[in-house]
Amino acid sequence: MAQEKAEPAPKPESLRKRKVPEPSKLDDFIKDKEAAILLGKALFWDMQVGSDNVTSCATCHFHAGADNRAKNQVSPGLLIVDENGQATPDFTFQVRKPNGTLQKGDFPFHKLSNINDRNSTVISSVNDVASSQGVTLEKFIAMLLGGAQEQRSVVADPVFNVNGLNTRRVEPRNTPTVINAVFNLRNFWDGRAQDRFNGVNPFGRRDAGAKVWKADKPHDQKQVSIDLNNASLASQAVGPPLSDLEMSAAGRTFPDLGRKLLNRRPLALQRVHREDSVLGSRSLMPQPGISISTYAELIRTAFKPQWWQGSAQISGYSHMERNFSLYFGLAVQLYEATLVSDQTPFDDYAEGKKDALSAQQKRGLELFFGDAKCANCHGGAEFTKATVHHIEKERLEKMIMGDGGKAVYDNGFYNIGVRPTREDIGLGGTDPFGFPLSESKLARDFGDKVFKKVIGVDPNEKPKKNDRIAANGAFKTPTLRNIELTAPYFHNGGQRTLREVVDFYNRGGDFHDQNIADLDPDIERLGLSNEDKDALVAFMKSLTDERVRRRCAPFDHPELFIPNGHLGNENTVYNDGFGRARDALMLLPATGRNGATPLRNFLE
Ligand code: HEC
Ligand code: HEC
Repeated sequence: MAQEKAEPAPKPESLRKRKVPEPSKLDDFIKDKEAAILLGKALFWDMQVGSDNVTSCATCHFHAGADNRAKNQVSPGLLIVDENGQATPDFTFQVRKPNGTLQKGDFPFHKLSNINDRNSTVISSVNDVASSQGVTLEKFIAMLLGGAQEQRSVVADPVFNVNGLNTRRVEPRNTPTVINAVFNLRNFWDGRAQDRFNGVNPFGRRDAGAKVWKADKPHDQKQVSIDLNNASLASQAVGPPLSDLEMSAAGRTFPDLGRKLLNRRPLALQRVHREDSVLGSRSLMPQPGISISTYAELIRTAFKPQWWQGSAQISGYSHMERNFSLYFGLAVQLYEATLVSDQTPFDDYAEGKKDALSAQQKRGLELFFGDAKCANCHGGAEFTKATVHHIEKERLEKMIMGDGGKAVYDNGFYNIGVRPTREDIGLGGTDPFGFPLSESKLARDFGDKVFKKVIGVDPNEKPKKNDRIAANGAFKTPTLRNIELTAPYFHNGGQRTLREVVDFYNRGGDFHDQNIADLDPDIERLGLSNEDKDALVAFMKSLTDERVRRRCAPFDHPELFIPNGHLGNENTVYNDGFGRARDALMLLPATGRNGATPLRNFLE
């Protein structure tokens, strides 16, 4: 990330000093913020959101904001494209088949005979991805009896099945943590969750047709466009509930989901700890649920009436059903905005407590901010530069590339040679409206006016028609806070330990030469000794917040039943009577504000 202009060198900063980003027009929507956070926490953990009444957001984000499951967690290579950018997915499983269990020996996914030499003999290399299982493939038919029943039909899944019985489908990219995600300017590995929220889907101003319904008086309902800044978590949150990989039968809409949930009791299937920091005073323990009879009631408390009071049905849906994506996005964002982990030894150190780090960790810190160049990309209190704080005003930047040429790139997003660029072009992709996800490419190919319209601000760089853009195979730099807890690593989940990650950087990446046209120039041999590597790993462990490890407030949570693959193994599963493999559910008991014993990390 060698910019043209020199920037001040990154230095240790405490996260306690960073303001949590928030939409400036929030008050136009929210009547009672506390109620909105409660609504967001309920929606995030509620199994009723999934078409199967099992899959919640938390199903893939329950462990330090990410996922530690190892069974039925492999995706085969769904995002591969050819040299013209056309999809050429690979449906063969290389590491483990559906319902197989990942083992330590499966990692790393690119095995070399000499870990310090990227040009040494490749022992094995796979395009599979270690990620998270969502739902089985189904088609949505109708919401019956005012939402009391969600009618679906099973669709035979040609990829995710064992002997023709559908297994839960697995995401094509590894699951990042939701903790501290509020600081990211855009979210998702490829940045497609826009910082501007349109109330309807992840695409912000890119979708000119996205509208919500407003009723200043009950009989006066009209469609309006909305545009909230600093709201990429709201944009993100309205993606998974309709995704037929993650949470939904294919074809379900947000008004359908509203119809299902509005008359239901929040968390009706899950028990809530009496000392839950948000929900505790309303716990119905030992019964499941909370003492708020319906989601509709909670929405009326949390949101201003013009967003729900319209009296007319439109195309068969009520005002509240129509606007369900608006409440879902904003409430989940407000809950996730409370998931800030700033109580770490590192933060103590950065605030002047010099003995908060061991001598080895201090050596690691020195390397991290110095010769190992980590902070060039993982800089700032957030341990990533892809944040509101760092790049809101400098979304585009120029750099000298690995091969010496100059390119414009989206600040915070880099190709570091984890996999060949064409296996997943990441930021190089296109949104459903034909605009490049890369803002640099957007500025170059569509010009200033379109950029302003689609992004909401003027471009801070004006790339010319034949300027080079670095976007293919680039991914959002992830935070390193709590990184000790969130293996496996990288967008493909291909590294199991932090030591493996440091070895990767030390040899200058795995696909250095193949990716050179897009590779960041800081990805080069580092010449670290064993002691240096251990010090870097030790330093990264100083970024763990014990409240996250022990699931204390604000990281405490309701009970959750989590699909951990299916009964049987990769050769044998059992029919649930509908053509699906029977689930193996594991119980995650509720915790209260004082937390509980730590969960095991991935494959530990
Ligand atoms: C089936 C597993 C699964 C479910 C269910 C799920 N997620 Fe995720 N989540 C993922 C994966 C995988 C990604 C990365 C996808 C990508 O970047 O393309 C992700 C990305 C995210 C991110 C972005 C973090 C970042 O740094 O970019 C947030 C925030 C998030 N999810 C929140 C949610 C919320 C809220 C819900 C429920 C509405 C949800 N997730 C449901 C697996 C899941
Ligand atoms: C050129 C920018 C850049 C530099 C320099 C850099 N990183 Fe990264 N880092 C990234 C990006 C981008 C990713 C995600 C890449 C991917 O998955 O394809 C990442 C991923 C990681 C991850 C995995 C995070 C996760 O949640 O999966 C760790 C750990 C990490 N980096 C540590 C380091 C350390 C330690 C150094 C210094 C030795 C370093 N990084 C240097 C940009 C960088």
